[in-house]
Amino acid sequence: MPNVIVVGLQWGDEGKGKIVDVLSEKADVVARFQGGHNAGHTVVINNEKFILHLIPSGILNPNKVCLIGNGVVVDPGALIQEIKGLKERGVAIKNNLFLSKNAHLIMPYHVAVDRENERLRGVKNIGTTGRGIGPAYCDKAGRSGIRVADLLYPEIFREKLDAHLFHVNFLLEHLYKAPRFHTEEIYREYMVYAEALAEYIADTDIIVNSTIAAHGNVLFEGAQGTLLDIDHGTYPYVTSSNAIAGGACTGLGVGPTKISKVLGVVKAYTTRVGSGPFPTEIHDSLGEHLRERGGEYGATTGRARRCGWLDIVVLRHSVRINGVTGLAITKLDILDGLDSIKICSSYTHKGSLYNEFPKETQIFEGCEPVYEEVEGWKADTSGIRDFKKLPEAAQSYIKKIETMLGVDVHLISTGQRRDELILLKEQFNGS
Ligand code: IMP
Repeated sequence: MPNVIVVGLQWGDEGKGKIVDVLSEKADVVARFQGGHNAGHTVVINNEKFILHLIPSGILNPNKVCLIGNGVVVDPGALIQEIKGLKERGVAIKNNLFLSKNAHLIMPYHVAVDRENERLRGVKNIGTTGRGIGPAYCDKAGRSGIRVADLLYPEIFREKLDAHLFHVNFLLEHLYKAPRFHTEEIYREYMVYAEALAEYIADTDIIVNSTIAAHGNVLFEGAQGTLLDIDHGTYPYVTSSNAIAGGACTGLGVGPTKISKVLGVVKAYTTRVGSGPFPTEIHDSLGEHLRERGGEYGATTGRARRCGWLDIVVLRHSVRINGVTGLAITKLDILDGLDSIKICSSYTHKGSLYNEFPKETQIFEGCEPVYEEVEGWKADTSGIRDFKKLPEAAQSYIKKIETMLGVDVHLISTGQRRDELILLKEQFNGS
């Protein structure tokens, strides 16, 4: 049975939530492998909108096992709120959600350090979500993190917390001039979380690998996007985890030989939230039009997303490093009504032509897009489910993306709802 990774090929917000929700119908296990509650995956079911931050979108399908893998950083208070919110809306969460013992915890001081770091960066701030993501991954890499399993051992938890707070408080007090944290307060708060989360804590690596061994279908749900990947994104304007397909292996404990497909999700145009270079950004009223028509406001922070044309240069890079086997194009309907559409095929910088994404931030920052202009379409594509019913210009746009990237399009999303989808190729039947 195939195991499929769904990954964003731009700067996040590609519409992965809906794609995962649709594909999870045929999955046995749906697993998150990186990021934290900085993510916001929107899924609309029967005109009811759900926004998921930490829990895999598969939870909205009955009888799916959902995993939060070791590569995720978990704010336990946020997770408990999310579970509570879903339960209140009738979503069953009992014996179908498991949290890795090895996942690292986001602590209150991570949120404080995130905020203070951004303040000190001033105009060069990253525009983080302010959820403590970067500092939590710093502690993980620095080997002073506290893991989910530690919640089950109060004395070990207190000991680790106390030892680490000594360093954290020194920084807060002397570098940031910010208030200190106290062991007892955090300890008491987190022991309440421990009780609430105990039933979900598990060896998720064993669950996922035994599902694969039993020929079950596993869907790996990426968060953020390739250009926000800590290694392969627009560093330092990135998040602090591996958002690319390779992150699924380390973030869950699954060997690369077990992965069969990588579905790359691409919005029909480009958006970015937070700071950092974005060559195809549209600065005039057309950008505003896309933002309003596409509802381009952050699902987590509510921030307005920057909007721009499709950028084939970054997508070429993303297709390559993710080993993409098929594309899902989302929000095609948002481009309805435009006279013409631009596609960036290369960049120029100081007289040189770039066909590939330059790794040097200072070069990427100065890149000017070289556009190809294609015909737009005046018809309404929302809700279309048959490729042949798309206006000819929309069909050509899709085919042009396939040709430019050398990868077939397997799905096209034409609206928010589950059924507003053109399915060109199944992911789970081996076809
Ligand atoms: P952090 O992940 O909160 O540290 O933020 C780092 C960068 O990643 C900022 O530019 C955020 O706006 C961006 N970011 C983090 N999560 C998401 C997401 O789910 N969608 C889009 N951008 C994100």
